[in-house]
Amino acid sequence: MAEVRPDFNSDFSIEQNWQDYSEEEHAIWRLLFERHRRLLVGRACPEFLDGLGALGVAAEGIPDFRRLGQVLDAATGWRIAAVPGLVPDDVFFAYLAHRRFPSTCFIRRRDQLDYLQEPDIFHDICGHVPLLMNPVFADYMQAYGEGGLKALGLGHLQHLARLYWYTVEFGLIATQEGLRIYGSGILSSAGESVYCLEDRRPNRIRFDLRRVMRTRYCIDDFQQTYFVIDDFQQLFDATRPDFAPIYDEIASQPEIEPDALISSDRKFDQASPSRLNGGKKMGRRLTAAQV
Ligand code: PHE
Ligand code: FE
Repeated sequence: MAEVRPDFNSDFSIEQNWQDYSEEEHAIWRLLFERHRRLLVGRACPEFLDGLGALGVAAEGIPDFRRLGQVLDAATGWRIAAVPGLVPDDVFFAYLAHRRFPSTCFIRRRDQLDYLQEPDIFHDICGHVPLLMNPVFADYMQAYGEGGLKALGLGHLQHLARLYWYTVEFGLIATQEGLRIYGSGILSSAGESVYCLEDRRPNRIRFDLRRVMRTRYCIDDFQQTYFVIDDFQQLFDATRPDFAPIYDEIASQPEIEPDALISSDRKFDQASPSRLNGGKKMGRRLTAAQV
């Protein structure tokens, strides 16, 4: 594993300066949060909804990281680090490896409620942080950070980034009540939260590590393929092995296009046809992934 730089905190972290948010910024948060809460009941996985509830992030306004960090730390030992925006890959991975989640502080404008090219505080806090309250997912994210530093050293960042994309950002999970969302990129987008579960068009395929690593993705539209896990333990166990030989193995195999199916795919069949719609787009999604 690459050495973690000792000064990563001082390099990119900033103060949130919570007292400086304007009333308009808090109002935008309230708007997003209310919509989020209504939409995600019955769509987000139970672990996410439990985490959101336990965090005490509420509709009043933008949360103060100092308070949020204490709740998170008590639950799983994770903390929040305020950063100005996307940080370099090695810095990002080092944060995760130290159980620190780098979160942006700024909030989108009122005319950007449904579409933003970069992560903002709503995506980071309402999309990512709730699942960090879950012990298994919390360990997965730390392992991902360590794996990221290793992948950088091995020159396989692209393969590892796809794993992040198709799990942390755009993952679906099969629960007893039906298919649910755990990916933060979906959860902070009202349009994709509906599309990924109910639209006929995208592929929904059972999670397979090598398949995911070979699959390209697009960052400027709804996903054409989602990968479905059974539970977080499955994800954690599947990613535990040393990736070095796996990277070598897949390097010689062809890449898979975002919309393609291959013969070994196991499709996930959602047995609730009444909820399927004809496939009208519900608005553009928030593109907001640190990969
Ligand atoms: N097992 C991976 C490796 O050897 C590390 C990892 C764990 C990567 C979890 C991603 C997620 O590189
Ligand atoms: Fe993200």
